[in-house]
Amino acid sequence: MSFRTIEWRDDKVIMIDQTRLPGEEVYCEYADYKGVAEAIRGMIIRGAPAIGVAAAMGVALGAREIVADTHESFFRQLDNVCDVLARTRPTAVNLFWAIERMKRLAEANRHRTLDEIRAALKAEAIRVEEEDLALCKAIGRHGAALIPAGATVLTHCNAGGLATAGYGTALGVIRAAHEAGKKIQVFADETRPWLQGARLTAWELMKDGIPVTLISDNMAGFFMNKGEITCCVVGADRIAANGDTANKIGTYSVAVLAKENDIPFYVAAPTSTLDLSLASGAEIPIEERHGREVTHLQGFPVAPEGIRVRNPAFDVTPARYIAGIITEKGVVRGNYVEGLRALVGP
Ligand code: MRU
Repeated sequence: MSFRTIEWRDDKVIMIDQTRLPGEEVYCEYADYKGVAEAIRGMIIRGAPAIGVAAAMGVALGAREIVADTHESFFRQLDNVCDVLARTRPTAVNLFWAIERMKRLAEANRHRTLDEIRAALKAEAIRVEEEDLALCKAIGRHGAALIPAGATVLTHCNAGGLATAGYGTALGVIRAAHEAGKKIQVFADETRPWLQGARLTAWELMKDGIPVTLISDNMAGFFMNKGEITCCVVGADRIAANGDTANKIGTYSVAVLAKENDIPFYVAAPTSTLDLSLASGAEIPIEERHGREVTHLQGFPVAPEGIRVRNPAFDVTPARYIAGIITEKGVVRGNYVEGLRALVGP
């Protein structure tokens, strides 16, 4: 990859600032966990797997900051670090998955010295990042088989290297198909409210020389109806036990349009995005963000002052619209309740 989304370097967490792309490629450095929490909330880093990695590194930074005489005091303060990180964004389950993994690791090392526990947490955070990259490559391998040669693939938002430790989930599938010589092209959208398709997906695919065309969100139906889209591949923030999938706002509209036009609509995500404790998507918490993201565009007002606004950041696509869920362990189709459960085991 020609950029690095997040890394642990010299006991600091370095992230590319995604709010400033594509205009500026700037890297931010964080030496404290509160900075990492702010970066997640402010979307300097975003995308479900990437905020999972950020949260894991935030816990490791927090552990270094704790001053404690006893294990009891250390673990009490570590819980507080985890709570601060967990309160940043509610929808992507990878955030909570990563925090839980770090807590479990600390607990398993409770018999060791505090410095040994801190070192184990740092190693685990780096492992979360390295594993995520490997998972994306595996998702790519499984998903590429579903993409016909010469396909035009529509993707919504950014589920790319920027949203993960690298390579991407939906864009991992696209990258793997491209690397296999399938001569595909991509239609990218999410042009409001955050312009993740325009700013991020367009930027990262152009950087890698993968043919990409930007469309605004309201054009997807037009191109599907004209027969110009072969399939859709999107990422996910949380997948319930029945396959219902939360992803960036607007994903549901793309899925419904795809069904209407007989176009397969795939979700690509690691198993860390599964939340089998939720029976259906109705239980997934949906983040509502500040109205200014709707009333303003890159700092400029585009609506009358004082207008009432709603700004859900995600929507839920019911499983019946999804032709397959592509994970690092393989593709689940048909009966999602059984298929997803079989992936994670009893
Ligand atoms: O609000 P964001 O930018 O964090 O939302 C990101 C998405 O919805 C992605 O599609 C999802 O996290 C999958 S990323 C591999």
